[in-house]
Amino acid sequence: MEDSPTDGGRRSFLSWFLGTSTGALVLSVFYPILRFVSPPHVPEASTSQVEAGSTHDPELLEKGFKIVRFGAEPVILVRVSETEFRAFAATCTHLDCIVEYRPGDGQIWCNCHNGVYDLNGRNVAGPPPRPLEAYEVHVVSKGAGQPGALVVSRT
Ligand code: FES
Repeated sequence: MEDSPTDGGRRSFLSWFLGTSTGALVLSVFYPILRFVSPPHVPEASTSQVEAGSTHDPELLEKGFKIVRFGAEPVILVRVSETEFRAFAATCTHLDCIVEYRPGDGQIWCNCHNGVYDLNGRNVAGPPPRPLEAYEVHVVSKGAGQPGALVVSRT
């Protein structure tokens, strides 16, 4: 049986259609995978200091600590006493869990594998291999009768 001229046209249209559909399907599947595997480089803004609330911050008063953002980094701000505050990188040096402060023990604790740091950021128990990076905390006066602002900066 011979092909009529319209069969050839249909066939070439079908070939073109299937070819482009398959190409589009392959592209729609692999493009996101490629973008995930190799994301575009986005330069991170460097942060030199952040304002992390006030000395009377309810979270600090209640829990004794809070996690603040320092650029892309989580930082744990600890209220050691009414007038003393300390800050450290909040990412555990073991496997990157976020640490917390236990005011009763006076320790920074990682609940993932029971890692413990002292209030100088030194790793004192559990699996963490290195100390937490320390940050400086400055109390900036906001005027008479006003609670001071807590400013966290790199050491
Ligand atoms: S991730 Fe913190 S102790 Fe393992």
